[in-house]
Amino acid sequence: MALLEARALVKRFGGLVAVNNVDLDVEAGEIRGIIGPNGAGKTTLFNLVSGALRLSSGTITFNGEVISGRKPSHIAKAGLVRTFQRNAMFPNYTVLENVLLSRHTQIEETLFKAIFGTDREEEERNRARAREILEFLELDIYANEQAENLAHGHQRLLGIANALAVEPRLIMLDEPVAGMNPTETAMVTDHIRRLRDEWNMTVILVEHDMRTVMEICEYITVINFGSKLMEGTPKEVSQNPEVIEAYLGSEEIDI
Ligand SMILES: Nc1ncnc2c1ncn2[C@@H]1O[C@H](COP(=O)(O)OP(=O)(O)OP(=O)(O)O)[C@@H](O)[C@H]1O
Ligand SMILES: [Mg+2]
Repeated sequence: MALLEARALVKRFGGLVAVNNVDLDVEAGEIRGIIGPNGAGKTTLFNLVSGALRLSSGTITFNGEVISGRKPSHIAKAGLVRTFQRNAMFPNYTVLENVLLSRHTQIEETLFKAIFGTDREEEERNRARAREILEFLELDIYANEQAENLAHGHQRLLGIANALAVEPRLIMLDEPVAGMNPTETAMVTDHIRRLRDEWNMTVILVEHDMRTVMEICEYITVINFGSKLMEGTPKEVSQNPEVIEAYLGSEEIDI
């Protein structure tokens, strides 16, 4: 059984079918890419899996447990989290505070519990873990910086740190290298690979940057108009005429 098994997912927004009968199987330890043109339904798919949006129909199983219909906090606790396409952080807090706050806000259902719910020992454990996450992503030197003062690449990385705060098994990254320069892209790509190799994380990433997708994903799912167009290795995908027509051909992408 795959770690994540999504079956016949459908999401309608009024008359628009944003996700149309999509199946998705992701094995533990995989780095899976999801690609497709703007508006194809990639972020909506993430929102369905993370529980942020309610499914119109379909079933999602994670680690043997049916998670469709459950709250995002339950799904996060079960070990599945996502990052956001835009920077998602607490801009006025320090980098370290961001990771601590994220743990609470993603898992706890009420703000009261998030603020007052932990005892001192637990808080110290959380703090130690937050420092490990920052070290892993080489953000520890910025631990006491205000988040909004970080460079763009580091802000995006902080988004990943915030997601890691809940100790996930599977992390979904929505355009992790969007807007980055080549140096930042290489840094983030390297960290994503290390998350899998050193922390045994399973990763699903949506990304328009083809070079990144082709470089780090073993397997790629292509979405077009809400439906799955094909799945395959980077080579199979980049050579598929339908994909080139639907997606690659429409952009000036060098692969
Ligand atoms: N909350 C919403 N209400 C109504 N329509 C929505 C909503 N969210 C997304 N859509 C529509 O669903 C479709 C899929 O959007 P989605 O954001 O999932 O695409 P995407 O593949 O992530 O695109 P991009 O690559 O530009 O991020 C689009 O037509 C979008 O306008
Ligand atoms: Mg999107």
